[in-house]
Amino acid sequence: MPDPIPSDPIPSDLIPKPRYERYAGGGRESCELADPLLAAGPGTEAAAAWLRREIGAATGWALPAAPEAGTPAGTVAGEGRQVVRLVLRPALAETLGPEGYELHVTDRGVLLEGAGPAGLFWAAQTFRQLLGPDAFRRAPLRPGRTWRLPVGGIQDGPRFGWRGMMLDVARHFTPKDGVLRWIDLLAAHKLNVLHLHLTDDQGWRIEIRRYPRLTEAGAWRARSKWGHGSSDRWNDTPHGGFYTQDDIREIVAYAAQRYVRVVPEIDLPGHSQAAIAAYPELGNTDVVDTAALGVWEDWGINPNVLAPTEAVLRFYEGVFEEVLELFPAEVSPFVHIGGDECPKEQWRASPTAQARIAELGLKDEDGLQSWFIRHFDRWLAARGRRLIGWDEILEGGLADGAAVSSWRGYAGGIAAAEAGHEVVMCPEQQVYLDHRQDGGPEEPMPIGYVRSLEDVYRFEPVPPGLSDGAARRVLGAQANVWTEVMENQSRIDYQVFPRLAAFAEVVWSGQPEPERRDYAGFEARMAAAHYARLAALGVDYRPPGGPLPWQRRPGVPGRPIDGPPPNV
Ligand code: ACM
Repeated sequence: MPDPIPSDPIPSDLIPKPRYERYAGGGRESCELADPLLAAGPGTEAAAAWLRREIGAATGWALPAAPEAGTPAGTVAGEGRQVVRLVLRPALAETLGPEGYELHVTDRGVLLEGAGPAGLFWAAQTFRQLLGPDAFRRAPLRPGRTWRLPVGGIQDGPRFGWRGMMLDVARHFTPKDGVLRWIDLLAAHKLNVLHLHLTDDQGWRIEIRRYPRLTEAGAWRARSKWGHGSSDRWNDTPHGGFYTQDDIREIVAYAAQRYVRVVPEIDLPGHSQAAIAAYPELGNTDVVDTAALGVWEDWGINPNVLAPTEAVLRFYEGVFEEVLELFPAEVSPFVHIGGDECPKEQWRASPTAQARIAELGLKDEDGLQSWFIRHFDRWLAARGRRLIGWDEILEGGLADGAAVSSWRGYAGGIAAAEAGHEVVMCPEQQVYLDHRQDGGPEEPMPIGYVRSLEDVYRFEPVPPGLSDGAARRVLGAQANVWTEVMENQSRIDYQVFPRLAAFAEVVWSGQPEPERRDYAGFEARMAAAHYARLAALGVDYRPPGGPLPWQRRPGVPGRPIDGPPPNV
C-alpha cells in the first residue's frame, strides 16, 4: 500500500473505522464549515444528489453548484465560500480497491475523492459522520448553528466486497417504507448487500403476476405464535402484507442509488407452506391433503415441502422469470434459492417422489434436493445469473458455479470454498442477530446463543486454515435477521443495533486476527458518537445497560440455547 496516511494515535469516532486517518494537531484542530458550495465533477451526480438531500436537510445548506467545477479544492476565487468538492479518481482503486476513497478537510472546504461512484458515496457517508450526530437528522435544530470538522485526511476502502444483512420479511412483514429505511441504515454503515428473504412457510411477500394467489392467499395468516419454543401463546391479530412489483422496483432503484445490491431469496424446496397454501398442487398431494393447508402460524421446521415434479419446476421458473425482470443482473447477478431445512419425510412417503428418484436414477431423497437446486442453477446460468443458496445445497452434490451462504457454522463455507465455490460467511453461532445479546432474564423472547456486542465485534469471516485460494473465494459476510419473535420495526431495531455497527466494522476494516481488534476503542467510539447517530436516525437500539421497559416482553418464552456456541 504505497503512501498511506499514517494513522493518528488519537482515534476519531468514525464507524466503521477507516483504514488510515490523520488529523491535524492529533485531532484537536478543527475548522468550521458554513454554507458551502458543491462542486460535483463528472460521474459524481449520485453522491451530489444524496449530499444535497441528506446533508442539506440536516444542515439547512442549499449546497448550490460551485461556478467552476474544475478548480482545485478550496475557496472559489472571488466568492469567499468554502467548497465541498466531489471527484472520481480511478487510480485510487489500485491502492484502496474499487470502493476506495479519500477525504480531506481544510479550512477551505472538503475534498471527497472516490475510486468510483460507490467509493465516493462511502466518502459522503464518512463526511456526514464527521459533521456529528445532528447531521443524521432531517431538519436543522437551530438556525445558523456552526458545523465543525476535524482538519485532516482519510484513506479508506473495504476489506470485503460482500457486506450484507439478510432481512426476513416472511415471518414478519416489513412494509416497503421500512425496507427503504433499512437501505439507508445499511448505507450509513457502508454495508452494500440487502438479502431479502421473501418467501417462507409463514408468508409469500412478492407479487407474481402470473400466480396472483401467492399474495392473495399466501401473504396472510390469521394469527401468529407469540414467542417461541415452549410458548403456547398466540398473537391473534391477523398478519400479512406483500410488495407489489412496483414496490420492488422502487426498493431496487433506491438501493442502487445508495450502492446497495438487493439479493432476492425465493426459498425452495422447503420453507414453502405459504406457496402450497396458495396453490395446493405444489405440495405432496399423495401424502397430505394440501388443499387443507393454510399459511403457517407457528415457527420451526415445517414438513410441507414442494413436490419434486416437472410441474413444480415449471411453476417456479415462472416465478423466477418475474423475479429476474425485477432484479436486473447489474443490480444482483446472484439470485438466492434458499435450499435450507427441507425435511425429507414427505418425499420418503410419497409414491410420486419415489418414482421420481427411480426415474432420475438418484440415490435417495438428498438426490431430489440436489435435483431441484441443479435445475435452477442451470436455469439461472442460462440467463446470465448466479445461484446462491444456504449450505444445505452441498447435500447430494454442489451445483457447478453455485455460491454458498454458510449458516450452519463455517464448515459448509470451508468445504465449498476449497471446492472452488464462492462463499458468504454467515454462521448462526456468530452473526444471527435474532440470537439474544445478553444472558439476563430481561432479553425479550430470548433466542439461541448469547452473542454480545463484543462477540460480534470479534467475528472473523475467514476461518483459520483455509488455503489462500479458498480464502479469496470468501466474498464477505452477512448478518442474518430472522424475525419470528420480531413483530415490528422497533423489535428488529433492538435485535440489530448496536450489533450491526460492530459487524459493519468487521467486514469493512476488521483486522483478520480478531483477538487483536481494539474493542475498547470501538466501544469508546460508540459512546462518543454512534449511539447518538443511531438515536438521531430514530433507531430503537438496545442500550448498553439492557432493554428499556417497552423493549421487554415479560413472561413470553423464547428458545434460548444454554452455553457458549460450539466452535464450528
Ligand atoms: C437458516 O437459518 N435456516 C438459513
